Amino acid sequence: MPNDPYLDKSVRWRIATGNLGFQEPGYRDVADAILDAGLATEVLQRIGSGKEADVYLCLDGRRRLAVKSYRFYRTSHRGGRPIKLDSMGHQASREYELLVYAWRNGVRVPEPGRRVENMLSMEFLGSLERPAPRMQEVVPSDPARLATETLREVERLADAGIVHSDMSPFNILVDRDRPWIIDLAAGVRVDRLGASPWIRLSEASAALQHGVDALARYFRKHGQEVEVENFVQGLVAKLDRFGVLA
Ligand SMILES: Nc1ncnc2c1ncn2[C@@H]1O[C@H](COP(=O)(O)OP(=O)(O)O)[C@@H](O)[C@H]1O
Ligand SMILES: [Mg+2]
Repeated sequence: MPNDPYLDKSVRWRIATGNLGFQEPGYRDVADAILDAGLATEVLQRIGSGKEADVYLCLDGRRRLAVKSYRFYRTSHRGGRPIKLDSMGHQASREYELLVYAWRNGVRVPEPGRRVENMLSMEFLGSLERPAPRMQEVVPSDPARLATETLREVERLADAGIVHSDMSPFNILVDRDRPWIIDLAAGVRVDRLGASPWIRLSEASAALQHGVDALARYFRKHGQEVEVENFVQGLVAKLDRFGVLA
């Protein structure tokens, strides 16, 4: 494909020559890719590992960064077949775009850095000794306040026209006592009404319901009730500016 927007020639070359295999890339290879791309000057350690991506703590000069690198294979992919080459660059660019968009709209997300190929950099949350924990692992000192602040971020996202499609205490980090939304990869944008606004809005409101339910379960476990129905209905009404679902 000429002028491929996602993977540049160097990646194609690494793939073609076998310098980038479809096997699990070792730490070394990913670290080299991050350095080659000029995203950081030093790669310190891997801090997270999910189905499709790994996250590394890096230094760019003295600044700490988290670099998320989408893999060219999926651990849980049935049969372990390689997946389409372009799709990981596409995932990274989608997540980066949503991160920038959310950040510009004042949502509490890590400040975006840059995106190169299948990797994106952002502000690192936490300290060198201890990356910020996921909310799931945190026992809140003030559950009522954390719940209010978390729902406020969900609302800010919705105000910006985004619904996080995987909102849960696993995709929220708690840093300096505040909730930070991460992992926007598969967010649904409802501010651009395309050809099928009804489908998009239905998807978005289902994702919203699912996400707020997950948050409510977490807070209930910590003794804090969340009014799910009203909250979700209110946001859906706001998202559905043109009354498509009504
Ligand atoms: N900006 C960040 N600062 C600190 N840790 C992070 C940051 N982004 C991600 N992490 C860590 O990496 C893990 C995986 O990140 P996430 O974006 O949720 O990827 P995945 O798609 O694999 O779930 C997180 O659970 C968190 O522990
Ligand atoms: Mg995640």
